[in-house]
Amino acid sequence: MKAVRIGLCGLGTVGGGTFRLLASNADLIAGRADTPIEVVRVGARRDNPDCPLGGVPVSRDIFEVARDPEVDILVELIGGTDTARELVEAAIDNGKHVVTANKALIAEHGNALFARAARRGVSLRFEAAVAGGIPIIKALREGLAGNRIEWLAGIINGTTNFILTEMRDKRRAFADVLAEAQALGYAEADPTFDVEGIDAAHKLAILAALAFGTPLNMNAVFAEGITGITPLDVDFVKELGYRIKHLGIARQSPAGVELRVHPTLIPKRRLLANVDGVKNAVLVEGDAVGPTLYYGAGAGAEPTASAVIADLVDIARDIAVGQSDRVPAGGFAGSAVRDLPVVPMADVQTPWYLRMEAEDRPGVMSAVTRIFSEQGISIEGLIQKAPSAGEARVPVVVLTNTAAQSQVDEAVLQIEALPTIYGSITRIRVETLDG
Ligand code: HSE
Repeated sequence: MKAVRIGLCGLGTVGGGTFRLLASNADLIAGRADTPIEVVRVGARRDNPDCPLGGVPVSRDIFEVARDPEVDILVELIGGTDTARELVEAAIDNGKHVVTANKALIAEHGNALFARAARRGVSLRFEAAVAGGIPIIKALREGLAGNRIEWLAGIINGTTNFILTEMRDKRRAFADVLAEAQALGYAEADPTFDVEGIDAAHKLAILAALAFGTPLNMNAVFAEGITGITPLDVDFVKELGYRIKHLGIARQSPAGVELRVHPTLIPKRRLLANVDGVKNAVLVEGDAVGPTLYYGAGAGAEPTASAVIADLVDIARDIAVGQSDRVPAGGFAGSAVRDLPVVPMADVQTPWYLRMEAEDRPGVMSAVTRIFSEQGISIEGLIQKAPSAGEARVPVVVLTNTAAQSQVDEAVLQIEALPTIYGSITRIRVETLDG
């Protein structure tokens, strides 16, 4: 039986994990693919002490892998976008199939890369790019193919979920938990990508394109990270019966598609609110199937390797029947592609959590509530604590009903201008996730 030959580029957390898993589950994987899958060349600028290569040749120039006639599939696990893009283009141009875990590459350059791969008749697969080991790409492209996807909402960054969980459960400091996430290999090379929501925005752009059959449009995704979340908010939210999760949300409405990534209050009874630590989960609402939930490890060596190898097995099966891209890439290059307008954030409607610091004297609350009422925003709940001894300022938390961001922007502007309100107001969107 002729083996499918892999050129593995990148030997970091995911590259090392992929190499090890291909070796440790070799027989099982060969059985599933109906052919052995063998790494015949590695391209890596550095060795990985946790990944002895047992005689597999290594090229320090990773482009040698893209040119190697012995390689059937190039696996791109070097990260970044510039060199990775050139490498993937070179592999495609040399007639190789490509598997990547690189969400930034797919989100930013996927439209051109899928078109290039289609022209050359090779596959470009990216299961590992979103939600680590969860087969969410397969679920959207294959399992839910009969549905109109109404919306999806996901915890799609393990690092931020780990940070928020540790802050809530152990009251640990943000920076301390982030350092641990880096040591565990969850965080991006530049962890601001995690905490500022950029990594999640890359992943949401990919999910939305698949779900709605639109071209990839990373620039249209609104991204807000978790750096503004304080222990005080974590405590208030708990008191209100919610949890704070960093969510990626894509929704179709008559006005177009909403594409947004931001901290979100979710009622604590929801399954998604109970997805903790580095775990990811994506809730997808299809018109026929209703809500479906996909849960698992969103980062780390073995879970991500699991997704990379699923793509390798798929391509090996395609090679066996002389076909490429048996399941097309989705909206990116397929015939069903259609552009939909993106709903401006000012028009996006959600309930809101607003926390402000107010002077503790009569009339303050009535001034605040009058502004909400003038803006047509109804108040769902309100917490005001008694001031601590000797303290003249009190935190006030307002939970609103559904309101457009533009309404809330105006109300916040007016409330912040009141002489009895100090500093700026913390704002977090709320999602009930019930339809
Ligand atoms: N930094 C990413 C995360 C890795 O924390 O989810 C997986 O994409």
